[in-house]
Amino acid sequence: MNAKKLAGEKAVEQVKEGMVVGLGTGSTAYWAVQKLGELVKDGLHIKAIPTSKSTEKLAIELNIPLVSFSEINEIDLTIDGADEINPTLDLIKGGGGALLREKIVAHSSKKFVVIADESKLVNHLGSFPLPVEVTPFGLDVTKREIQNLRCNTILRQSDASNIFITDNGNYILDCYFESIIDPSIIHTQLNMIPGVVENGLFVNMAEQVIIGYNDGRLKVLE
Ligand code: A5P
Repeated sequence: MNAKKLAGEKAVEQVKEGMVVGLGTGSTAYWAVQKLGELVKDGLHIKAIPTSKSTEKLAIELNIPLVSFSEINEIDLTIDGADEINPTLDLIKGGGGALLREKIVAHSSKKFVVIADESKLVNHLGSFPLPVEVTPFGLDVTKREIQNLRCNTILRQSDASNIFITDNGNYILDCYFESIIDPSIIHTQLNMIPGVVENGLFVNMAEQVIIGYNDGRLKVLE
């Protein structure tokens, strides 16, 4: 049983006629977008806002109508994956580098539902390196300021000779903390550094987490 597909399709049951839907990014959100594509083909009317260029491309292929923020007031429901989920439903996101658009979309949503397989559940955030989107200008000084928060940083590469560039033209520093005991403090400290555009901690944002298991079970956390 594909646990990611199970969770993704379960979340899509919450999508209703006429909704504006935020489309997440990654291998779990992929299944939710695929399912939405099927429902649209069968006559469901929704409008969607993608969280990355890759999801935008997928949505266009599936004929899911897209809108921009200038055309709507609010997003009804956003469905997205996560890299880590702690017991209070705080998240690390950005493994795919889409954290900025993901956070803008989730923050503008009435309901933010996270989908994942069981491997994403952790007691404390931080085993997964925290992605931080930074401006290319001032990279070295931004990096030093982030390291002062007691972590090691690695500039993300797309391959051996190229720096990874986000959809917004920025870089990602993957930050290795020992453990993130209080995500809201690290979140605030990071975002106070001028060269930091956004970080991958999603604190107090997920209203519901749907976990898929390989044996076919589903768990809903709220
Ligand atoms: C994209 O930048 C990420 O935030 C993804 O949502 C996250 O990495 C989960 O991806 P998977 O569903 O592929 O594990």
